Amino acid sequence: MKKSSKNGLKKARGNNTKSVLIWAPLLVVISISLAVLWEDLNTTKTEKKLPIQTDKHPEYVLDFQAALKEREEQLKKYKHDLQTTGVERRSNLSLQEFWDLYDAKWPVIITDVVNTWPASKWTTEFFNLTYGNENVATSIVEGTTSEGFSVPLHGFIKYINYATPTSWMYVMDEVFIVSRPELHKQILPSIYTEEDFFKLFPKEIRPWDCMLLWGSAYSQSPLHIDPYNWTGTNAVIKGTKKWKLFPPGQDHLLYVIPEAMCGFPLECYKYNSPINTFAPDQTQYPLYNLATYIEVEQKAGEMLIIPTGWFHQVYNTEETLAISNQVMNRNNYRYVLKEILKAGNLLHKHLPDNFHNLSPKHQVRILMSLLPKRVLQEGEKRSQDYINSIKGQHST
Ligand SMILES: *[C@@H]1O[C@H](CO)[C@@H](O)[C@H](O)[C@H]1NC(C)=O
Ligand SMILES: *[C@@H]1O[C@H](CO)[C@@H](O)[C@H](O)[C@H]1NC(C)=O
Ligand SMILES: *[C@@H]1O[C@H](CO)[C@@H](O)[C@H](O)[C@H]1NC(C)=O
Repeated sequence: MKKSSKNGLKKARGNNTKSVLIWAPLLVVISISLAVLWEDLNTTKTEKKLPIQTDKHPEYVLDFQAALKEREEQLKKYKHDLQTTGVERRSNLSLQEFWDLYDAKWPVIITDVVNTWPASKWTTEFFNLTYGNENVATSIVEGTTSEGFSVPLHGFIKYINYATPTSWMYVMDEVFIVSRPELHKQILPSIYTEEDFFKLFPKEIRPWDCMLLWGSAYSQSPLHIDPYNWTGTNAVIKGTKKWKLFPPGQDHLLYVIPEAMCGFPLECYKYNSPINTFAPDQTQYPLYNLATYIEVEQKAGEMLIIPTGWFHQVYNTEETLAISNQVMNRNNYRYVLKEILKAGNLLHKHLPDNFHNLSPKHQVRILMSLLPKRVLQEGEKRSQDYINSIKGQHST
């Protein structure tokens, strides 16, 4: 059914979908308060200009060809007959093998982690009953517009089955789980995410763990790279996710929006593509036809690990509940640090001369200690604003 080219990657091609429904009844029901994070989905936002930086340390940029070569080398160590044609499903995968063959190199699906989580038993009824009256940060998409709302969870649940290809909802809430310890503790640590230098970040600017992602059918993300080029994990608890994953080095084929910033207190470049790879406009984006990608369908109980540098887009083929996380470890910390420097949070020249010879943890600590105070202050304020906006209170 699915044709693969000889290197196991598919050539980009697509079809189109049609539109229907209106969310009018829901829009009346919900309380409206705009949150900060919906930018990712909002195609009409204006982008800020970038500061110009000189690049003294090009070695801190991901070299994907070198990564692939290393993968080939490492493969000799393992008896496992590696496929190069798609995303492998692995269980009982040792941390060393994960680092050698997948991390910062190639995506992988882990099949024996999510099922050990108490969270794997979460149901709609449980959330409705326990948290129905509490607000969640939701994106509502109507045709080409997307807006962030804070809605009572029971409202979201009530309308979840009315989605159409052009009218759908997506809970993307960064604090719902972490602010509820009884939920947070149902998501267990795994060996693949244990080493995480984000833990060394001051809490004001540390990315939140365990983002709640609960999408109606048809909900999707844009084609993007995660903030700071981190390594992403996505654990599906219920439903099915279709992924398109693009090996690094194809920015020029993906019409990456130039000079875009995330707008975070700890600033980063935002690498987003305007292409909807599930219905690409080939007249507008002719070079996209030359892009290669792998496609995979992720089921409940599976965790996908998306390596640093891979553009990805997700499409929920049915109602899907998932938890995403991020990792900064020995295999990607250079790129994360590079992205932080590149975005102008501090200057290279402020780093000590021996910086690049220090241990990874040491580098992270030093860089964090050199950040201007205002970054942390702004981080603190933004977090509070975000939490308040979900609760439906405006801080200003
Ligand atoms: C991060 O990803 C973007 C998008 O592909 C790429 O242009 C950039 O070089 C990457 N950064 C690093 C430090 O590798
Ligand atoms: C898991 O892998 C280890 C070696 O890494 C092996 O000793 C063990 O038997 C494996 N367990 C299962 C259930 O396959
Ligand atoms: C959710 O809870 C509300 C009451 O708050 C109830 O009316 C509704 O039927 C429930 N929905 C589901 C899907 O359980």
